[in-house]
Amino acid sequence: MVKVIMEIVRLANIVPGIFRKALQDVEIKGYMVPAGWGIMVCPPAVHLNPDIYEDPLAFNPWRWQGKPEITGGTKHFMAFGGGLRFCVGTDLTKVLMATFIHNLVTKYRWKTVKGGNIVRTPGLGFPDGFDIQLFPKN
Ligand code: HEM
Repeated sequence: MVKVIMEIVRLANIVPGIFRKALQDVEIKGYMVPAGWGIMVCPPAVHLNPDIYEDPLAFNPWRWQGKPEITGGTKHFMAFGGGLRFCVGTDLTKVLMATFIHNLVTKYRWKTVKGGNIVRTPGLGFPDGFDIQLFPKN
């Protein structure tokens, strides 16, 4: 279940940006960020790096097989941020997601009614919505 949740928040992160302020001049790969500038880090884009995630747009929880659960933020995985401002709701979120997914797949089936087109700008969006119909499982 943890791997499924990791993959969901990698691909469908609801946070389009995390904001920081440069306290001093910082040089990153030849680019100078002057002190005082704001920086927007974009987790959904970081999570699609093909050097780190093979076939990055594929929903593949197995990619996390054999890897420890990431309980903080890393350079390549920051669905819940990282560092001092790391999301305090991370564990609650994972419990709620696990409960929801468990009930959804064990008690229900569903079919798509309409929508489902995905855009990434770079935050994830469904411009036509995504309606599904749920049926109780026998
Ligand atoms: C899928 C669900 C969630 C996601 C993706 C998420 C993501 C994030 C991210 C990326 C940050 C860091 C912001 C930054 O670095 O500037 C953050 C901070 C925070 N989150 Fe969440 N969050 C989620 C759910 C929750 C829940 C359920 C709660 C509370 C019950 C919560 C409470 C907070 C708080 C209070 C902070 C600020 C922490 C601080 O600044 O010290 N989050 N969250």
